[in-house]
Amino acid sequence: MSGVNFVDVSKTYEDGTEAVRGLELEVVSGEFLVLVGPSGCGKTTTLRMLAGLEEVSEGEIRIGGAKVNDLPPKARDIGMVFQSYALYPHKSVEQNLTFGMEMMKGEEALSSNEIESRVKEISNLLGIAELLEKRPRELSGGQRQRVALGRALIRRPKVLLMDEPLSNLDAKLRNQMRIELRRLHEEHGTTTVYVTHDQIEAMTLADRIAIMNDGELQQHATPDECYNNPANDFVKDFLCRHIDEIVTTANHIVSKR
Ligand SMILES: Nc1ncnc2c1ncn2[C@@H]1O[C@H](COP(=O)(O)OP(=O)(O)OP(=O)(O)O)[C@@H](O)[C@H]1O
Ligand SMILES: [Mg+2]
Repeated sequence: MSGVNFVDVSKTYEDGTEAVRGLELEVVSGEFLVLVGPSGCGKTTTLRMLAGLEEVSEGEIRIGGAKVNDLPPKARDIGMVFQSYALYPHKSVEQNLTFGMEMMKGEEALSSNEIESRVKEISNLLGIAELLEKRPRELSGGQRQRVALGRALIRRPKVLLMDEPLSNLDAKLRNQMRIELRRLHEEHGTTTVYVTHDQIEAMTLADRIAIMNDGELQQHATPDECYNNPANDFVKDFLCRHIDEIVTTANHIVSKR
């Protein structure tokens, strides 16, 4: 079981900024949840609290039913991919993939055979098997992105966190990677929390979306439910109107052809 629960979680930064207020949110084990909302609404803060990179001011975070507020990031069994996916520049792709696993100690330690077979599996899955000897600077943005994703997945974390992981890519690659991410999720079923400010990305990737504004959760439901039954004016404007405008624009372009 690797579900996630936020129980009345709040975060106030030292300067008094209330970034997250009274967050109640459940991510069911195996679910792909997309956290979406405008810039500054508290998405990254929420993710960093779950990862253990930011202290929780109030409330409780649970993973697999157990409170993790006081656990350091390493003990939470979480994989992370952030917008700036810092690969080790002097290590090869293969070394970037294996570094985290080689550091595992004690009960968690993996045999070199196991590491080798995971490298094979994950690099085939992500289409980077040909690139294992290369250094990050010899890769395209999309390839680097996939290595970063591989590095998070290869350890088989209980929970996968992604913060705007596609924002550096061009539109075509973004679309490809979206499809790839969804396929990977279907295959592995890892509980995933994905942060974006992009409504279309949220609608296409998520099992359920959590819409935030100004530190507060506005609606938590399937994409269809949010679109068809927006909980309030904010969701209507941020999600429904935005999507309607895109559809109108697309229709306009098609009709002019
Ligand atoms: N270290 C910090 N100290 C003080 N305030 C912070 C800190 N980090 C973030 N904030 C503030 O907390 C609020 C939420 O920030 P957060 O980074 O979580 O937003 P976000 O939803 O991820 O935005 P974006 O889409 O722009 O990445 C913002 O008002 C931000 O200015
Ligand atoms: Mg952010």
